[in-house]
Amino acid sequence: MEHFNIIQALCRSALATPNSAVIQQINRLKDALKKDGNEKEAKSIESLLASSKKSIEMTPSRIKQSFAMNKGEVITSKTSIPVDKETSIPIAEVFFNEDLPDEIPLFDDNIKNAILSIINEWSKFDQLLEINAAPASSCLIYGLPGTGKTHLAKWIAKQIGLPVVLARLEGLMSSFLGTTAKNIGNLFSFANRYNCVLLLDEFDAIAKLRNDPQEVGEVKRVVNTLLQCLDSRKDCGFTIGVTNHEALLDPAVWRRFDVQIEIPKPSPQIIIELVKKFLYPLNFGENEIKLFAWCIEEASGADIEMLAKWIKRAYVVDNNITASNIIKQFTLLNSGRVTEKKKNAILKSDEEFINALIEDETYTFKQVDIAPMFGMTTSSLSKLKSKMK
Ligand SMILES: Nc1ncnc2c1ncn2[C@@H]1O[C@H](COP(=O)(O)OP(=O)(O)OP(=O)(O)O)[C@@H](O)[C@H]1O
Ligand SMILES: [Mg+2]
Repeated sequence: MEHFNIIQALCRSALATPNSAVIQQINRLKDALKKDGNEKEAKSIESLLASSKKSIEMTPSRIKQSFAMNKGEVITSKTSIPVDKETSIPIAEVFFNEDLPDEIPLFDDNIKNAILSIINEWSKFDQLLEINAAPASSCLIYGLPGTGKTHLAKWIAKQIGLPVVLARLEGLMSSFLGTTAKNIGNLFSFANRYNCVLLLDEFDAIAKLRNDPQEVGEVKRVVNTLLQCLDSRKDCGFTIGVTNHEALLDPAVWRRFDVQIEIPKPSPQIIIELVKKFLYPLNFGENEIKLFAWCIEEASGADIEMLAKWIKRAYVVDNNITASNIIKQFTLLNSGRVTEKKKNAILKSDEEFINALIEDETYTFKQVDIAPMFGMTTSSLSKLKSKMK
């Protein structure tokens, strides 16, 4: 059906923040498609509706519990933020609700459901407190660079419904370790005074192993200050730590976090979703999307965002460019983002490139799908293939 992928993308976007009118209209669309005999399309709309329903059921409305709402003073845009005494650089930055992302990053269902379950627990904070089963109030998010950890931390904070106090490392870290310790103390006193979520991004910088042989005495003192501060915060508010280098974290720091979430690299299915999301508003066929996803296998969400920007620019410059040529250019100029195996296949010759696609078991390309992406007819592609044998 012509332009169905645009309709599908529209529905997906609308269902990201659904309301009853949106759901009603999408149901109407599904029924109309079914009535006209477009069974496949109706099924795909139905599955969008079903997965949206599942996530609505799991996502509680903002957590407006006593813990979240009544502790500490209210932070406003006029609240003065502590600064490093020597450089006058603020040690934190405040983000209000409107500055935080509305959408959870795209993750596989198991990770997404685990995250939603913590938020559900927080929505029952009062009930749990009454039976002496206070839920987690601190969470450490770790994983490879560019996998959406900072985005996730801000989204979680938005669900809690409080402003975020984001620690600024350039303000916090001083060349004098004594000053760094003082700044950490000031940061926590500030966060504990106000009703907020404390976000410690790139947390490893201040939480390095105490027995790091390169650093001595003073570093231990900084980490000890951090441990005391984390303990002091336990009953004051939510704390989210984010790091790429979980192995560098001191085990004692690690233990202070009630919940620890590892964010993996995106799976092939999520790569496809991310390619589509970042290519918006450009619209590509399913096979081209598969080709882009194939090329960026093993990449992080941030790399996929970069690829999508690249594709957009390439199409604006030359809207007749073939998908295979875009991938070749991308590979040549982004060699760190494409695996060696893929690079060899893409850059050696069209024959090797086509063969690698045909033999790929994850994305399953057919010759008829591949030919247009190389600007060929199916019969010229078959001839090329038989020459290779
Ligand atoms: N799974 C994802 N879903 C949606 N967007 C993503 C995803 N992963 C990464 N991104 C996007 O990639 C960019 C980088 O993400 P983010 O800064 O959250 O990554 P990070 O894990 O904190 O990276 P770093 O470790 O380098 O700090 C953002 O624009 C983010 O929205
Ligand atoms: Mg980050």
